[in-house]
Amino acid sequence: MFQKWLKIPKAELLHKRIERIKSMDIPSHIAIIMDGNGRWAKKRSLPRIAGHHEGMKVVRKITMLANDLHVDTLTLYAFSTENWKRPKDEVNYLMKLPEQFLDVYLPELVENNVQVRMIGIKEQIPNHTLRAVEKAIADTKENTGMVLNFALNYGSRLEILNAIKSIIKDAKNGIINENDLTDELFSQYLMTKDFHDPDLLIRTSGEIRLSNFMLWQIAYTELWFTDVLWPDFNEQLFLDAIEQYQKRSRRFGGI
Ligand code: FPP
Repeated sequence: MFQKWLKIPKAELLHKRIERIKSMDIPSHIAIIMDGNGRWAKKRSLPRIAGHHEGMKVVRKITMLANDLHVDTLTLYAFSTENWKRPKDEVNYLMKLPEQFLDVYLPELVENNVQVRMIGIKEQIPNHTLRAVEKAIADTKENTGMVLNFALNYGSRLEILNAIKSIIKDAKNGIINENDLTDELFSQYLMTKDFHDPDLLIRTSGEIRLSNFMLWQIAYTELWFTDVLWPDFNEQLFLDAIEQYQKRSRRFGGI
């Protein structure tokens, strides 16, 4: 009973914190490198996939909070073009995660007006994974709320190289010429062409690097790192990152 009494003010405090944060500038596009699942599992003598499974539950929590905060786009780095180097069993499990996640949470995403999207190279992704993601995209395409964008088999260098190849082709075919090429036009050749650049990038697990994630798009993104491993990441930490963002002065090279 005492515990129940204690829980009320905690929930109220969180609610008040959310309302205060909402009354200020909310980052419109938040990108997350969800790192540390393997270490989380190892610390508990569990197989690495247990960390990925736990990480999936955190995806749900953070998605719901971001949607509540009226974040416009939440991009999650779920699988990189380099992750194929991992043991086959782990890759297979990672490729099952979108299905597992969507099997359980798609109704909740639909109900909460979230739109599911994906960036990444579709070719190598197993059919069962792609089918699940494409169904979620179709089922949520009329929604008007937050975009939950999975970066799946995504790699920024490959994305940039493919953009350059398409630009060369379009130039050869007379569709564009050299003088047309601006920041904005280049962005239109990237997989993220429908989204604006991230305002805030979060990386968990204490690694201070970008790991081939949205290298072009994060030119002026605010970066926030935490030592916390992704399966231990939670709403309060997500709010910490946004509060920190709200305190920063973004000058985009100006003064
Ligand atoms: C990096 O941690 C994490 C990944 C490569 C996978 C991220 C996936 C999830 C968090 C679940 C995704 C959920 C959905 C719905 C697609 P790591 O394995 O590199 O951890 P380590 O650095 O500690 O080894």
